[in-house]
Amino acid sequence: MNEILLKNRGVPNSQSLDVYTSRGGYTALKKALALTPGDIITLVEESGLRGRGGAGFPAGAKWKLLTKYRVKTVYLICNADEGEPGTFKDRYVMEFDPHLLLEGMAIAAYATGAHHGFIYIRGEYDWIAKILLKAIEEAQAKGFIGSNVMGSDYSFYIDVFRGAGSYVCGEETALIESLEGKAGRPRLKPPFPAAYGLYGEPTVIHNVSTLSYIPFIVENGPEAYKSIGARMSGGTALFSISGHVNKPGLYEYPMGTALRELIYEAAGGIRGGKNLKAVIPGGLSAPVLRSDEIDVAMDYPSLNAAGTMLGSGGIIVLDEDTSIPMITRKTARFFAHESCGQCTPCREGTNMIRHLTDRIIAGEGSAQTIEQILRLCRYIRGSTICAFGIAATLPVEALIKKFRNEFEALLRD
Ligand SMILES: Cc1cc2nc3c(=O)[nH]c(=O)nc-3n(C[C@H](O)[C@H](O)[C@H](O)COP(=O)(O)O)c2cc1C
Ligand code: SF4
Repeated sequence: MNEILLKNRGVPNSQSLDVYTSRGGYTALKKALALTPGDIITLVEESGLRGRGGAGFPAGAKWKLLTKYRVKTVYLICNADEGEPGTFKDRYVMEFDPHLLLEGMAIAAYATGAHHGFIYIRGEYDWIAKILLKAIEEAQAKGFIGSNVMGSDYSFYIDVFRGAGSYVCGEETALIESLEGKAGRPRLKPPFPAAYGLYGEPTVIHNVSTLSYIPFIVENGPEAYKSIGARMSGGTALFSISGHVNKPGLYEYPMGTALRELIYEAAGGIRGGKNLKAVIPGGLSAPVLRSDEIDVAMDYPSLNAAGTMLGSGGIIVLDEDTSIPMITRKTARFFAHESCGQCTPCREGTNMIRHLTDRIIAGEGSAQTIEQILRLCRYIRGSTICAFGIAATLPVEALIKKFRNEFEALLRD
């Protein structure tokens, strides 16, 4: 198995700097400091590394945007909010291999000209915040971060900032607002953070996993990374598999691995020998797949062609006994609760969807109620400030369209 991000999981005391360096840690940073920032950006661009926070934006292209702002103060932010239901990948990287993330951040900062980085970690991960703080202290004491990194004239400092339990604060501009001490509400884009980010300065923001791939790419070269995964989706991916499987957990597999293999081989198949009904393949925001759609490759283009997305790699498996209307209600409640309330279509629309799904579950609606929900989903999308409007409506729409008979049965019976 080609493990890049989980290679140190299970190694005793893997969080410590000594163990990390004894297994080759921080050699990529040393190599990076001997290159120019431009060389590193080229390596990352050639690797085809795509952001693992959900949108899959190419990391190299994002870094390149920063180069025109290098004259200004540049900030690097690591998005460790990990709020997407069904997703639990970043916590493992930070918990078992915090120095991998720190090394990735130091290289990314050097390449983009940032001297100050922040790790914005979800509030619930308080014990991991402590692990990170200890790792930062250790790395700073040995000169891997801080003033004059590894004897160079480059300095880079990292702070840890704890979130307070808002899903929307995972959205990059809401996160920036929150870091600035304000309410975590998304900003209108453009301007994008590369031009106007933290404190109005150019900012590069990446998911934990994205940054943690950087040492491997610098150490082994872009070809080594690309050769692992699928076409247009190189490398490995972390898949957090939960729900009705025998072995729920976090798995690292090459991009492009079939969803069926992940469910039946990695996660040991459906619990209790039951049949599969449906799978949500990329965190709760990803449109659901039926059991006859799981021969899809888990990579960006294949999942898009199947009408869904890789998202955050959170795979939620639902067996034959699952009530899809109940799943839809839970989904609708989550998004109605998490809307930041800034735009009317999202604030009111998600609440109306929640109310209408409640009515269907109570057997009080009609065929019109189903149509009303679908209409609201269409209206909300495209009329909101941030992509929450898409995240909240695509899954509800797909659940209803693919399992409409279950909703109709509730109304009929
Ligand atoms: C509502 C919402 C929630 C998000 N939550 C997260 C999150 O918890 N973690 C994350 O890395 N990205 C999250 N994102 C994506 C970020 O806005 C951003 O695209 C990402 O941090 C960029 O990093 P990447 O290029 O490494 O993927 C969220 C986006 C939206 C719209
Ligand atoms: S779409 Fe929703 S979450 Fe995003 S800014 Fe508007 S109200 Fe807030």
